[in-house]
Amino acid sequence: MTTEWWRTAAIYQIYPRSFADANGDGMGDLAGIRSRLPELADLGIDAIWLSPFFTSPQKDAGYDVADYCDVDPRFGTLDDFDDMLAEAHRLGLRVIVDLVPNHSSDRHPWFQEALAAGPGSRERARYLFRDGKGDTGDIPPNNWESVFGGSAWTRVTEADGEPGQWYLHLFDSSQPDFDWTNEDVREEFRRILRFWLDRGVDGFRVDVAHGMVKAEGLPDWTPAADGGSMGGASHALVEEGVPLEPEIHDAGDGAPYWGQDGVHEIYRDWRALLDEYPGERILAAEAWVDPLPRVAKWVRSDEMHQAFNFAYLETPWDAAALRGVIDASLSAFGAVGAPSTWVLSNHDVVRHASRLALTVENLQGHGIGPRTPGLPDPVVGLRRARAATALMLALPGSAYVYQGEELGLPEAIDLPDDARQDPTWFRTHGERYGRDGCRVPLPWEADRPSFGFGPTDAAWLPQPASWADFARDRQRGVEGSTLELYRAALGGRRSHALAMGSVDWVEPSGADGVLAFRNGDVLVVANTGSADVPLPAGEVLLASAEVADGVLPADTTVWLRA
Ligand code: NOJ
Repeated sequence: MTTEWWRTAAIYQIYPRSFADANGDGMGDLAGIRSRLPELADLGIDAIWLSPFFTSPQKDAGYDVADYCDVDPRFGTLDDFDDMLAEAHRLGLRVIVDLVPNHSSDRHPWFQEALAAGPGSRERARYLFRDGKGDTGDIPPNNWESVFGGSAWTRVTEADGEPGQWYLHLFDSSQPDFDWTNEDVREEFRRILRFWLDRGVDGFRVDVAHGMVKAEGLPDWTPAADGGSMGGASHALVEEGVPLEPEIHDAGDGAPYWGQDGVHEIYRDWRALLDEYPGERILAAEAWVDPLPRVAKWVRSDEMHQAFNFAYLETPWDAAALRGVIDASLSAFGAVGAPSTWVLSNHDVVRHASRLALTVENLQGHGIGPRTPGLPDPVVGLRRARAATALMLALPGSAYVYQGEELGLPEAIDLPDDARQDPTWFRTHGERYGRDGCRVPLPWEADRPSFGFGPTDAAWLPQPASWADFARDRQRGVEGSTLELYRAALGGRRSHALAMGSVDWVEPSGADGVLAFRNGDVLVVANTGSADVPLPAGEVLLASAEVADGVLPADTTVWLRA
């Protein structure tokens, strides 16, 4: 029997480095994850997605894989993985792992072999090696820039000690891009998919699913200045607290490395492979392209099951803009028979408890730090984040929750410069803070070392002292806490079958900062404006902030019995 569980699933993203550390070395691990799974089952989610835990030199926090079929010793062993998976399944949680097919680590044996084998070899043909331009070949093959800043090309030293060919890396120089026209690469990834499917995983989140195929001839390209770093739209603009009209940007459109048609053939191949397995294993695309009808190409019925809805993530806290993106999402994904997904935070963007209160434009991937203009008011940020989540979890489709958002964690803005580890920080010489601020280890128990992240004080990124107040044990069972709001919303989403429902706008939705819709027997009303509005009559099922006396205050979402 098929349940199509992925159409409605609430999926919790675990960032293994920062979730829970069993051995006390300051880096989270699989045993830590296993030990905390009951907490997640209790929260009311359906599945977990784990960012990479594979063998890796960790130049990009594990998105630089040296062995796709083994666990990095920092995170444990394959046995630890199997134990964690079994425990998740015992608790009724599905497990999705990250697949990183656009590039490997430069420590991957294939890349090492490619370096050794030299120009023109079968080994080099698995990556994108090219001769440089100019008399001495010292000019990169084209003008592409790395997502993390600087050139997307690095020159190698050949066996004779002379400067030689260049290789392409859309990300860090330690992340050489594969050549996906090469059958060796295709075959190897089929093997990798089977390896994890045979172990029992329920699916894959596919990294850079818009980037694997490059346009023939690798033509020059200069991206629009307002393009988000991963491609697609820029971060929604906000000026002086007033959200600007969201535009559908075409920043990624036309880039010879994003969203090339050839990627779809790969996913059709993978889908057929997954469908050989019982139990509805899924593929979820990380594809930063826009507009939404373009994203929907990734989830046509013979391709992936889900695609992240980054257009939603990038929409400002503004009723009209939200109505627009919700309609556009339901219509674009609906047109291909796929569920819409919803997401507000992940390990690449400023946490929404901070982002929604930024007052100056901040491009996706650039991050925020002590010297960033327009830093958020934390009280406003948290209030908006709670309201935004209460709205998101009432929408039909599948929703993603990033670890720590259920605690209301803000971005860690004040990380010391010397603690930062994101390659973006290094490649831009500190001009962009990058993504470390959303990756700080979680606080579990306020009064324990590392707030219970592990048994010692160690944490690979320092935890702000103020995070004691966000610790899970300070919020568990506490009425009005963010944790209890998430639990109630996830529970209500289930008991009212909201994820299977539909959005029926209640007019004049979108006007005056108010958004209102009916989904089944629930009336959802969000006030994104700065003034009180009348609260419709009815039993309050859920409220992101206190409501009383017929008033719905600013930055508040309520669910009422319709
Ligand atoms: C997207 C991942 O989410 C991000 O963390 C990573 O740096 C890039 N892809 C490169 O793999």
